[in-house]
Amino acid sequence: EQRAAITGLGTYVPEKILTNAELEKMVDTSDEWITTRTGIRERRIAAPGEATSDLAREAARRALADAGVEAREIDLIIVATNTPDMLFPATACLLQESLGAERAGAFDLLAGCTGFIYALVTGGQFIAAGGAQTVLAVGAETLSRIVNWRDRNTCVLFGDGAGAAVLRAAPAGYGLLASRLGAHGAGGPLLCLPAGGSRRPACRETVEQDLHFVHMNGREVFKFAVKTMEEGTRGVMEDAGLSVADIDFLIPHQANIRIIDAAVKRLGLAPERVLVNVDRYGNTSTASIPLALQEARQAGRIKDGDNVVLVGFGAGLTWAAAAVRW
Ligand code: ACO
Repeated sequence: EQRAAITGLGTYVPEKILTNAELEKMVDTSDEWITTRTGIRERRIAAPGEATSDLAREAARRALADAGVEAREIDLIIVATNTPDMLFPATACLLQESLGAERAGAFDLLAGCTGFIYALVTGGQFIAAGGAQTVLAVGAETLSRIVNWRDRNTCVLFGDGAGAAVLRAAPAGYGLLASRLGAHGAGGPLLCLPAGGSRRPACRETVEQDLHFVHMNGREVFKFAVKTMEEGTRGVMEDAGLSVADIDFLIPHQANIRIIDAAVKRLGLAPERVLVNVDRYGNTSTASIPLALQEARQAGRIKDGDNVVLVGFGAGLTWAAAAVRW
């Protein structure tokens, strides 16, 4: 079977930085609370008029340049996002147009913060099955647009950003070794944007009741996250015929330092094998894994032939893990 590999990566974050000190002036919170409970010190915020597809375009252009691939060569674009420019058309179609990827099919994928791994695995399957040669998998978000800036429980957690990966056939022995995708639909109400869909269409009441913002039960999501990050990581290593000790580098979804620390401790991994950048970006949802992966790669922390595990969780609730030989 033909495996897929990430042959190019690109990321983009907006220029504007929002610090914990600035948040102290907006809601009843403190730098001390945010840092000790989440590990977040600052996050990026999209400029007025800058939408998810704009962030995605910058990340995608950089990924294409990194891979040495022309937009015209892309067969399929998959955009994982919770914050599309509009409900429809798909953000992937807006990106197809702005990149000039004339030959590409394009669709969005919704799997909460786990979306980038879902997109990577879906694209990998197209390559494995021969349905596509070049896939662009993107995670892009402008979460600042759906966060209630009067709700301290959520507004301190999220940030904006984008990451993109070019997928192509891997040389023998490299690429996507194994993956697991999971969902726990019963946990849907724990993390949702209640209105604006067909169940509760937008109206004056939904606006007055703040139903167009993220609603979250943080404690329950926390428990789900720690459990599935550990189980998912163990699962993909087993599927790849490797033990947890064979993990050279772990890229966890960046939502909260305490979630990462708890999962890493349960797995018995040394901290130097784990990338953490939640301090600088907050939770960027589908962009978090590519942002962390790119940072690890650029810092030389991932070497040729390393076994890398990507693992995440999010709204759905969903979780996923992928083992990749770099
Ligand atoms: N500043 C000050 N106090 C705060 C703040 C804040 N920003 N936010 C909450 N508090 C208060 C609460 O009101 C609560 O006060 P109370 O006890 O008087 O009611 C107190 O702090 C403790 O609240 P907890 O919910 O117990 O805090 P916890 O330690 O669980 O941390 C957090 C909360 C950070 C949200 C944590 O639960 C978490 O990270 N959960 C996971 C969330 C997550 O990852 N979500 C993203 C999923 S991915 C996606 O798909 C979008």
